[in-house]
Order: sequence, then structure tokens, then C-alpha cells
Amino acid sequence: MHSTFTHAIRVLGFGGPEVLQWEAVELPGPAPGEVTIRQTAVGLNFIDTYHRSGLYPLALPAGIGTEAAGVVEVLGAGVGGIAVGDRVAYAGLPPGAYAERRNWPAERLVTLPDTISDEVAASAMLKGLTAWYLLRRSYRVQPGDTLLLHAAAGGTGTLLSQWAAALGATVIGVVGSPAKADLARAQGCAETVLADDPDFVRKVRDLSGGGVAVVYDSVGRDTFFKSLDCLRKHGTMVSFGNASGPVEPFSPMELAKRGSLHLTRPSLFDFIATRADLEAGTGELFSLIARGAVRIAIGQRYPLRDVARAHQDLEGRRTTGATVLTP
Ligand SMILES: NC(=O)c1ccc[n+]([C@@H]2O[C@H](COP(=O)([O-])OP(=O)(O)OC[C@H]3O[C@@H](n4cnc5c(N)ncnc54)[C@H](OP(=O)(O)O)[C@@H]3O)[C@@H](O)[C@H]2O)c1
Repeated sequence: MHSTFTHAIRVLGFGGPEVLQWEAVELPGPAPGEVTIRQTAVGLNFIDTYHRSGLYPLALPAGIGTEAAGVVEVLGAGVGGIAVGDRVAYAGLPPGAYAERRNWPAERLVTLPDTISDEVAASAMLKGLTAWYLLRRSYRVQPGDTLLLHAAAGGTGTLLSQWAAALGATVIGVVGSPAKADLARAQGCAETVLADDPDFVRKVRDLSGGGVAVVYDSVGRDTFFKSLDCLRKHGTMVSFGNASGPVEPFSPMELAKRGSLHLTRPSLFDFIATRADLEAGTGELFSLIARGAVRIAIGQRYPLRDVARAHQDLEGRRTTGATVLTP
């Protein structure tokens, strides 16, 4: 198969948004089992900032980006069940989704039903499958549970809050500003608390009648112990991100003295490693979206080549909902 050229964002050295470079790169024909996708919408995710900064190190120079949707353009040898022209989407590693065209294993793609637009898929694959495993696998949310959700007005947060509410849970959302509180309430949160509220723990404990069943904490270093303090006895702490930096090492006694707590530090890619899990997660996600139980809140769009600006806004807490990058 012939090589062609495409444009992609490359990381040549770890650092701030300025290291993201728009370049012409060679794209080989798809390897056996792969397809070439012409990408129409790319998702922006906080993990992309960890790849860019080196918090999650990549072998450089590297591509970046973990979620996209598009149209199949070329089939590699041995690919079945998928045709040129099919609309598809994916979430996964290795990074490289910030590109006009890309090769990707057919086995790791999902084909999109008419009810899911390309932009919705590019916003919902990584964030929605994260919501799925957090609510269904890391801790199985029950009707009547009260849960605490950090970054409730964000891309993952707005999906999680709606899905949790659809499962019959009461969601207390943590937000950085009053404007974000209004958005979070419109996206399924019954209550909101400001992240910098000096009375944070007491308010959450009061709102939840003595402590929440589970905390979904993606902020990390700044919020970890406050989150533990909000849990009821035997509650579950799901620490799933590092927006403020990674959590420092600590003694397991901290879990004992707050009431025999459970702690998990999950990663999406372990929950969609098999085809069966990928299909189970996307099946639930797409059906919730199709029946309107979860609406994807796209807060902003940027041309893909301006993704440095999108990273600045994401890290500066200036985005809401999901962000779509247009190749
Ligand atoms: N482990 C996994 O499997 C997995 C999968 C997907 C996402 N994640 C994690 O989930 C989190 C959300 O990802 P996302 O892509 O949907 O981003 P996002 O929530 O749209 O954006 C991050 C939000 O975090 C809040 N935040 C609090 N402290 C912050 C700080 N010091 N710096 C920057 N933001 C801060 C901000 O909301 P406020 O201004 O309202 O506080 C900000 O808008 C990230 O931590 C990501 O790593 C983990």
C-alpha cells in the first residue's frame, strides 16, 4: 500500500502548549488488520495534557490525542466487517488522534449508528466509556446512592452526572464558579458545591445525610483528602485523574481512620481492553444518547491546528462540557 502525506500535531519535546506543532507527516498505507480513517472530529481530553507535559511519558517525537471519529478510507489486508465509507470512532492508545488521517486497528473501532453524529462520537467515546466504567464497574452505582463528583461541569463530568442521575443516584457536583454551577445543575447535578468553599466537607456531609457512598475525584492532589473526608463508613474513593497534579504517597491508615474506606485508581484502557468490553460499553452509551437520557454538552470547538489554545483553555479551567477539534 502507498504512503501518502497528512497533517498532524506532533510533540517534539515535553512542555507547555507551545510544544504542539502542526506538521506534514508521512502516512503509510494501513498494516494488515488496520484501516485508514479520514478524521472529521477529534476529542480533546485532559490525558492529552499529561502526554504533552510528560506526566505520562511518551517516546518522542510522538503523536498526541486519544479520541476521534471519521470515515473509513482504505482497508488493510484481512479487514472484514467494515467497509470503505463507514462512519467510525475510537478511543485509545497509542496517542495520535490529532491528525487529518490516521491508521487504526479495525478491531478497536466502533461503527456509528445514524443517531450518533461524528462530533458527538468524538466527544463521547473516551469520556462516555469512562463514565460507563466508573458508574458500572469501579463502583456499581445503585438507585438512591448519593455521590460526589469533581469537575462536574467538565467534559467527563457533564456525561457522568447525567448518567448517574439516569441510574437513580443523587449527584453533588463540585465546580469552580457559580456559572459552572448553573451548567452542572442543568446536566443532572441535584446540588453543587464550589471547589474553594472553606466549608466544603461539612456542606457535602450535610447534603448527603452524613457522607456520600462514592466520590469520583479527577482533580487529584488538591482534593484527595477532602474527598476522603466526605465519604460515609465503607465508602468508595475513585481517584481517576490529576488535573491539579498527582496524589502524593500516603499511609493506608488514612483509609482506616475515616471508616474502613475502599480506594481504587482506575484507567479506562483496562476496562475496554477486550472487544466484548468495548462493545458492552459503547452499546450502553449509544443507547442512552439515542433515547436522550444523556445529552453531549459540546462547550467549544477549535480548528485542530489551534489545539495549543484549546490546551491553554482546558488547563486554565476556561472550558465547559466537551471540546471538539476540527481537522
Ligand atoms: N482514569 C481514567 O480512566 C480517566 C478517563 C477520562 C478522564 N479522566 C480524568 O478526568 C478528568 C476530567 O477530564 P476531562 O477531559 O473531562 O476534563 P474537564 O473535566 O473538561 O476539565 C478539567 C476540569 O477540572 C477542574 N479542575 C480542578 N482543578 C483544576 C486544576 N488545578 N487545573 C485544571 N483543571 C482543574 C476544572 O473544572 P472547575 O473549574 O469547575 O473546577 C476543569 O474544567 C481529568 O483529570 C482526566 O485525567 C480519567
